[in-house]
Amino acid sequence: MMDYKIVLTEYLKHYIKDLSLGEIEGMLEVPPDREMGDYAFPCFRLAKTLRKAPNMIAEDLKKGMELPEGFQRVEAKGPYLNFFIDKKQLILSILNSVTHQKDAYGKRNLGQGKTVCIDFSAPNIAKPFHVGHLRSTVIGNALYRIYEALGYNCEGINHLGDWGTQFGKVIVAYRNWGSEKAVKENPIETLLDLYVKFHEEAEDHPELEDQARNWFTRMEQGDREAYNLWKWFSSETIQELKKIYKTLNVKFDHYTGESFYNDKMDGVIKELQEKNLLKESKGAHLVDLEEFNMPPCLVMKKDGSTLYATRDIAAAIYRKKTFDFEKCLYVTDYSQNLHFAQWMKVIDLMGYEWAKDLEHIPFGRVTHEGKKIQTRKGNVVLLQDVLDEAINRVQGIIEEKNPELENKEKVARDIGVGAIIFNDLSHSRIKDVSFSWETAFNFEGETGPYVQYTHARAASILRKANMEISSNINWQILEEKTSMDVLMRIHGFSQAIIQAKDKNEPSIVTRYVVNLAQEFNKFYNECPILNQEEEIKEARLALVSITKQTIKNALYILGIEAPEKM
Ligand code: ARG
Repeated sequence: MMDYKIVLTEYLKHYIKDLSLGEIEGMLEVPPDREMGDYAFPCFRLAKTLRKAPNMIAEDLKKGMELPEGFQRVEAKGPYLNFFIDKKQLILSILNSVTHQKDAYGKRNLGQGKTVCIDFSAPNIAKPFHVGHLRSTVIGNALYRIYEALGYNCEGINHLGDWGTQFGKVIVAYRNWGSEKAVKENPIETLLDLYVKFHEEAEDHPELEDQARNWFTRMEQGDREAYNLWKWFSSETIQELKKIYKTLNVKFDHYTGESFYNDKMDGVIKELQEKNLLKESKGAHLVDLEEFNMPPCLVMKKDGSTLYATRDIAAAIYRKKTFDFEKCLYVTDYSQNLHFAQWMKVIDLMGYEWAKDLEHIPFGRVTHEGKKIQTRKGNVVLLQDVLDEAINRVQGIIEEKNPELENKEKVARDIGVGAIIFNDLSHSRIKDVSFSWETAFNFEGETGPYVQYTHARAASILRKANMEISSNINWQILEEKTSMDVLMRIHGFSQAIIQAKDKNEPSIVTRYVVNLAQEFNKFYNECPILNQEEEIKEARLALVSITKQTIKNALYILGIEAPEKM
């Protein structure tokens, strides 16, 4: 479908040689009232170079102008040049595109199969899977779908924290106080409990710390017993995580956690040595980054063990080799800014020109009604608890308002989970998010349930009408302002996805779909549909149908289901 703004920009460029395409595009405005035109070009800036009053410039430009493709009329009004889109062509082409492309509407092929790696979620085994990981999961998944919709090949990578000293602690705790049954039944919570218990006990029994270090060393040396326990803890946890991911509609192409790079550590250290980047300090090895105003990047402790950063360096090199990515994105909260800046600098110093293609995508923290979130675990909210609570609350609402609803359980899950995801994605990612159950579940506010409800409303109208949507409608009926607003919004869908990609900002899609839902509801309130004469009914139903499809596609990108009934 044509992009009016681009057509117009390129067209204007023929007449205005002094400005670049980017400048012209940046100057184009959308007038507040469509009566004044669909796009306006202000002539103030040209006044200086052309030494003429802006009003005159507008007049002169208009005189010498033929109409660009897709436009019907151009008017000079004061200092503005106003362009009017050919509505017939526009309306018919939007209807046609959405109706034919269906679930593919909005997609583009900008990526042409180039690969983007997205490193997201990445919880730590035996440590809490907390709301920070939820944000990473939800933002990473949306980015995955945004890039995918634009024709990139995506590799979703879960860089699990599945190696480290916490395992020594958990092994000690498990041998003292653990039970096989508990780990099998509820691995995530049980391992976390053991980890917490270890710390409590170690306060009075410091020798436990030595035992834990010892077990971790055994793990690193490949000791059978230590290795088997670690392997078992990991695989039970991953199985359980997969259930949570399923609830969240999230899939990974690779579960390659930190342990995956164990056999690549020596290589990294050797390479750093050969490239003369390593410095020794009190037995430890590090890369000095003083020149770049950063503390040194520690890559090997004095006992020979490697660190989080070493594994990230190894992982990046491995990923470049394996996937030849165009970009590799890392989605974590902003408290890790320094970590990423440091090791990415190391990659750069190693002489890899693709260091510039590594990008940290930081996001803000989650607070609960202004405070840090609290639960029965003390200071962390367990993700599973949040999701269960969300689903329960929706179940309660359904029982009260619509107990006859088909598929109640699935719908409750779709809405509950959708509300959580939507809430997370509704602010620009770098902002801290304050979570409140009341706001997340408000059916009137700018929430997931509101958008889902709008989709279900459109579905219900179409069911009631129970007729084929004709491709041969009287397009003039949709020329009214409220219908045009909806149409123009639908027309802008790809553009919203592209912007979201350019800024790695899923909230642009969230904002987009809220706007579409609001405009649609306004149309629904002002333009009766079902009890109208055939011609009007047909035209409006067509609009309902393409709105429903577009909302569904936008929710898909966010990782949210669109139930037909709710
Ligand atoms: N496991 C880490 C954490 O919980 C996040 C890992 C992010 N990915 C990476 N390649 N460092 O903080």
